[in-house]
Amino acid sequence: MKINLANIKKAKNLLNKRECVAIPTETVYGIAGNAYSDTACKKIFRLKKRPANNPLIIHYYDLKKLRNDCELNENFFKLYKKFCPGPITFVLNQKKTSKISKIATNKKKTLAVRFPKHPVTRILLKYLKFPIAAPSANIFTKISAVTSSEVKEDFGKKIKYILEGGRSSVGVESTIIDLRKKPKILRLGGLEIGIIQKILKKKISININPSKISAPGQFRIHYSPGIPIRLNVEKIKKKEAFLLIKKNKINKTNYYFLSKKGNLKEAAKNLYTILRKIKKDNYKSIAVGKIPNKGIGKTINDRLLKASKF
Ligand code: TXA
Ligand code: MG
Repeated sequence: MKINLANIKKAKNLLNKRECVAIPTETVYGIAGNAYSDTACKKIFRLKKRPANNPLIIHYYDLKKLRNDCELNENFFKLYKKFCPGPITFVLNQKKTSKISKIATNKKKTLAVRFPKHPVTRILLKYLKFPIAAPSANIFTKISAVTSSEVKEDFGKKIKYILEGGRSSVGVESTIIDLRKKPKILRLGGLEIGIIQKILKKKISININPSKISAPGQFRIHYSPGIPIRLNVEKIKKKEAFLLIKKNKINKTNYYFLSKKGNLKEAAKNLYTILRKIKKDNYKSIAVGKIPNKGIGKTINDRLLKASKF
């Protein structure tokens, strides 16, 4: 992708004026605002129709500014060195001196932070004097956007500017790991748990469906294309769209394939766009065939399960 510095400057100028802009990341597009500014963060919540008790992830260029805001620890440094920039978000204790807006965190004493890898957003972050608060660029509970046109579909003129970055290369949101005590996964995502475990040299617990929703804001209905989804289907019903992991020879219009040969990374990259496509093609429900529950396939299954609660 060719990088257009004039576009990045435009985004920078708007962010400096406490406006929101959509930004590309390697996971999904985000709706960005100055993380130090209450005004900017309020605008993000309003745009997304997001409840105030669901805090935002703060995006940094590198460790420099993060050190003012968070208590860093050994596990953090191990994972940062190996995976950042990349699709992983860390939950850490916030320092008293932190300048992050209390609107962004809903006054929590913790902070979720990440270092996005997308080259356009890295240049933007380098130019800015503040970190960026950015939730996924979709309306609350709906499917995230992985291209600029999908952001436009959801927000139209309500968003002042969309910074072009092509299609997100990972296609699902970052993996969230709580590192305050024993490492704990709070959301499956673009980075596989297996390789995180290898670096930390221990098994990590997974707590992605907390009974108390208020804590990490893991709402039960999420990632919904707006029509019902049935999982692990072998035989479809009349008029259903059929979503399969691997291309097959049956070339019916209601068949949709996440990848050519069953590659899970390719499937994750295509997932949200295909779910949007099925809705646009006017199907009233989706049947999903079995998807291998390994590697990033676990993330795909997690998203589809949450979407199926519609
Ligand atoms: O890949 C991503 O992480 C994308 C891109 C744009 O960076 N962002 C993203 O943000 O997915 P969002 O807001 O859609 O999801 C953030 C999740 C929410 O479930 C929120 O509750 C959780 O992170 N979160 C934020 N701050 C937290 C904290 N202090 N402790 C625990 N969970 C937190
Ligand atoms: Mg989201």
